[in-house]
Amino acid sequence: MKKTLTVFALFVAVIASGAADGADDAVSVILNNFGAARYAAGAIPKADLDKIIAAGVRAPSARNRQPWRFTVVSTKALAEKIVNGITEGNVVIVVSADSDSADYTLDCALAVENIYLAAQALGYGSRIYTGPVANINSKLKNDLGIPRERSAVAVVRVGRLASNVDVASSASPRKPADSVVTYR
Ligand SMILES: Cc1cc2nc3c(=O)[nH]c(=O)nc-3n(C[C@H](O)[C@H](O)[C@H](O)COP(=O)(O)O)c2cc1C
Repeated sequence: MKKTLTVFALFVAVIASGAADGADDAVSVILNNFGAARYAAGAIPKADLDKIIAAGVRAPSARNRQPWRFTVVSTKALAEKIVNGITEGNVVIVVSADSDSADYTLDCALAVENIYLAAQALGYGSRIYTGPVANINSKLKNDLGIPRERSAVAVVRVGRLASNVDVASSASPRKPADSVVTYR
C-alpha cells in the first residue's frame, strides 16, 4: 500500500511539474512576442501549420459563436497581393468574420492572437497586419474565395525567422506597467 501511495505521489508530482513548465512556457512566449519584419526563405511543414491553425480555431468567442474563417495563403504570388515584401515560404493567414459587425471583431482578434503566438511558440516569426484589410475586402475576396457577405478582419504572416532576429533586437518597447495599470 505504502509503495502504491509513493508511486501515486510521484505521478502527481510529475504531472504537476509538467503543468507548471507548460504555464511558464506560455507566459514566456507571450512576454517575448514581437512582430517579425525580416524572414528567411523556407517552407513551414504542414504539421506545424496545422498546429498554428488549430490554435486559431481553439480561440474563445462570445457565446462560443466562432464567427471566424481562416484563408491560408501559401502561394507567393497571391501572398504578395496581400502583404508587401513576402519571403519565399511565408504563409499569410487571412481571418475573416461572418459579417463586418463590430461585434465579431473581438472574437476574431482573439483567434488572430492565438495564431500569432502559436507560430512564435513553434519558433517561427509572425506579424499581425490590418493595413491590407481594406484592399482585401474591396479587391481580393474573389482571389481568396471569401464570400461577399464575409469581411476580412486581420492578417497574420508566418515564416522562418531571418538569422540574428530575436526579441532583444526586434521588439518595440512597451509603456511601463505602472503607467497603464491602476489598482483599486
Ligand atoms: C491590430 C494590429 C494591426 C497591425 N497592423 C500592422 C500593419 O498593417 N503593418 C505592419 O507593418 N504592422 C502591423 N502591426 C504590427 C505592430 O505594428 C507591432 O506589433 C507593434 O508595433 C509592436 O511591435 P513589436 O510587435 O515588434 O514589438 C499590427 C499589429 C496589430 C496588433
